[in-house]
Amino acid sequence: MLFNLTEEQLMIQSMVREFSRKVVAPTASERDKTKEFPAKNLKQMGELGLMGMMIPPEYGGEGADTISYVLALSEIAYSCASTSVVMSVQNSIVCESILKFGTEEQKKRFLVPLASGEIIGAFALTEPDAGSDPVSQTTTAKKDKDEYILNGTKRFITSGQNCKVVIVTAKTDESAGHRGISAFLVPKGLAGFSVGHVEDKMGLRASDTTDLIFENCRVPAENILGKEGDGFKIAMSGLDGGRIGIAAQSLGVAEAAFDASIRYTRQRKQFGCSISKHQGIRWQIADMATQIEAARQLMLSAAAMKDRKEKFTTQASMAKLFASEMVNQITARAIQLHGGYGFTKDYDVERYYRDARVFTIYEGTSEIQRIVISNNILKDKRNQ
Ligand code: CAA
Repeated sequence: MLFNLTEEQLMIQSMVREFSRKVVAPTASERDKTKEFPAKNLKQMGELGLMGMMIPPEYGGEGADTISYVLALSEIAYSCASTSVVMSVQNSIVCESILKFGTEEQKKRFLVPLASGEIIGAFALTEPDAGSDPVSQTTTAKKDKDEYILNGTKRFITSGQNCKVVIVTAKTDESAGHRGISAFLVPKGLAGFSVGHVEDKMGLRASDTTDLIFENCRVPAENILGKEGDGFKIAMSGLDGGRIGIAAQSLGVAEAAFDASIRYTRQRKQFGCSISKHQGIRWQIADMATQIEAARQLMLSAAAMKDRKEKFTTQASMAKLFASEMVNQITARAIQLHGGYGFTKDYDVERYYRDARVFTIYEGTSEIQRIVISNNILKDKRNQ
């Protein structure tokens, strides 16, 4: 392995692996059926310091590095992708955005309970008609003395129902393009703020995905995150970190599907021997292991760049693109290797296949990652 993980990183990985397999895994399949939000597991994860891993201890976090975070997130995804998406959104796009752009007062009020896992947070950028192109969003925030009045609908919001606070983007200047978008910390319970439709999804069924509706919702002006017009930058830089997290989730689910495939192909006998003895199967195993290892290295490399405080946007998109496409191939192969059994609910590979499907879509589709990667390569002076 290219990366020499430190003692501390290995210790965190092994602690989370044990917790994940003992506590999170046994109920994952049931949660997939009932769609029950993993509130109890998330509470325990908060106690273990997994909900604000990269946040300094003075703001309720663990002060861990990004490498430790992605190792931990992969371990949770290995057992339950629904639980891992809540952990991912909370750690990166919610907590890290407040750490980076919040005032001291906002950090005390919102970051401390979020990073310690006391409350769940959400991030609301997407709208019914603004997904890949968030600049076309139509939610507005009009200043009225010491308040902003929010109007609009956000869509596909992870933890929309179960969260206590949401970072909401809205237009404060409709004529200024991306520079007219601002971000606000909006707690639940404000008048004019409600949860709308809850999606019935193909995968990640125990994580709620909802509409959030703002109807003349008055938000105190002190709740603006950053300055007026910073919202797009906050979203984009939050997504940089978030995308490494999607690579980590992809890796975790792919490893689970791979391990299940190894167990099955060893135990399943056809033509007088384990199917793992057939060359056609062995070559598939070799390809799967190679794809998984390549994704792991891309994920670790992007995380290491972030830890070194280098610009990592391109590498985060590469890791997200490659790992999310990889896990879709691996989980499809895992079903194929399980034959007819893989198509039933008796084997976990069926759940892995459904859970993985959204990884090439959320936090920027594969097509958007290719735009980010190619834009950055073409504008790099070294390539001109
Ligand atoms: N960090 C900081 N700032 C950034 C940035 C980054 N990574 N990328 C761009 N910016 C800034 C630029 O500097 C520029 O600012 P200035 O003009 O002030 O210099 C501004 O943003 C616009 O940049 P571009 O011109 O490059 O932006 P664009 O409009 O051409 O392209 C895009 C942007 C990459 C297509 C972007 O719109 C994008 O990523 N779209 C996908 C949105 C997305 O990922 N949605 C997922 C929803 S969230 C989600 O899924 C969470 C969940 O619940 C699981």
